[in-house]
Amino acid sequence: DVQPKATIVIFGATGDLAKRKLFPSIYKLYQKGKLSEQFAVVGVARRPHTDESFRHYVKETIEEATKQELMDDPFISHFYYHSLDATNTKSYEQLNELLTRVEEQFHIPGNRIFYLAMAPEFFGTITSHLKSEGLTATNGWTRLVIEKPFGHDLQSAQKLNEEIRQSFSEEQIFRIDHYLGKEMVQNIEVIRFANAIFEPLWNNRFIANIQITSSETLGVEDRGRYYDHSGALRDMVQNHMLQMVALLAMEPPIKLTTDDIRSEKVKVLRALRPMTHDDVDNYFVRGQYGRGIVRGQQVVGYREEHSVDPHSNTETFVAGKLMIDNFRWAGVPFYIRTGKRMTEKSTKIVVQFKDVPMNLYYRTSEYVHPNLLVIHIQPDEGITLHLNAKKSGESMKTTPIKLDYCNNCIDGINTPEAYEKLLYDCMRGDATNFTHWDEVAASWSFVDPISEVWENTKAVDFPNYEAGSMGPKKADELLQKDGFHWWSLNGTM
Ligand code: BG6
Repeated sequence: DVQPKATIVIFGATGDLAKRKLFPSIYKLYQKGKLSEQFAVVGVARRPHTDESFRHYVKETIEEATKQELMDDPFISHFYYHSLDATNTKSYEQLNELLTRVEEQFHIPGNRIFYLAMAPEFFGTITSHLKSEGLTATNGWTRLVIEKPFGHDLQSAQKLNEEIRQSFSEEQIFRIDHYLGKEMVQNIEVIRFANAIFEPLWNNRFIANIQITSSETLGVEDRGRYYDHSGALRDMVQNHMLQMVALLAMEPPIKLTTDDIRSEKVKVLRALRPMTHDDVDNYFVRGQYGRGIVRGQQVVGYREEHSVDPHSNTETFVAGKLMIDNFRWAGVPFYIRTGKRMTEKSTKIVVQFKDVPMNLYYRTSEYVHPNLLVIHIQPDEGITLHLNAKKSGESMKTTPIKLDYCNNCIDGINTPEAYEKLLYDCMRGDATNFTHWDEVAASWSFVDPISEVWENTKAVDFPNYEAGSMGPKKADELLQKDGFHWWSLNGTM
């Protein structure tokens, strides 16, 4: 169905995610004609609002996000509001009445998306009430969208999963990992499987290492309370970073179906070499930012941030070396690194190929650069292939050159925001770019031993990187020990 007909019920409608991502995404889908007039959005939160005041709020947030003025747009009349008391069954009955009314008005055939964009402690309560009060018993389909964090470790994730599975089946659950909605993350698969030149080389015979960096310039903003209990490992590695590893390392799926792709990804996650307690120090580096200058601005250190423990042991940076113990990848390190308050905002994958067997140009060129395939995820979107060529005019001297493709530089292409694509996928029932329980479980199993070690040992050197830098020195040493180094973010060799 190109124009799915559904009601989107957003729990946490007055929160940050709804404001920054969900409302603007729904608006863009509408503008592009991907929603018919048969849709509605029902905002749910504790705070009181009338439909009118909620519409006013939504209108303002969309205008702010899109920098466009919404005249008397009929779009906004599709929005309704219900003030929910999450533990009161009566409040769900009223919500159900509102949904029925809205469905009649817009001729929506009972299709409902329940989007939980809020703190996870209420997930279980809400989902069980949705079922017990009959909100999931409609003539159409019902789906549940869940934001991260999906648990704090394997055990809590299992508990959460069991709770929501009482009311929704796995097929109805759409767990968001917004990296999977990014254009260039989706492109990894196409680059690999639609080009004859990469796949034959995509293994331990030709690839020396793969590096994934996701750096941010922001600090923890107003999320100190959540972040200080989470840290970079849970916040970025368990989900986004491991998902990128899985997409880079998986076998070609038999078909591009949700199940076929997922089962290949799960195999990768299961093949990750488990970290014993002794391994953690050799394979993983944690960091925490101190004061420094980020893009010209003096900023405070992590321990001085709002709602952060002044003696916090929480990491804001992680670098790691992952080994995938299977035939294709035996011996090839996957290096990952992510952190807050780093030099620039950038997500990039560098595939470093092995050196040529010998340097025939040793008389003129001391060093022949390795070939690199760089996948630029953000802010620039594209791919660069680094090759060597003859330096013009000089006798057989080699020089590195770049073949560049920039996806978002093409006139007229405005890449849709991840949330826009994911919401649309969910409305159409396509779960390919959502994480299945098996992936969540496998990635927590990998991450848990690392966080256990870090929670039980104090990082004596924190803060160990200056805000505005590329992280602690130890992260560089991690690669130096293997004879490699991080390739710089600006794409130079
Ligand atoms: C979120 C994390 O999942 O991803 C944030 O909770 C982080 O801490 C964000 O800032 C990064 O996403 P993006 O799309 O800006 O790279």
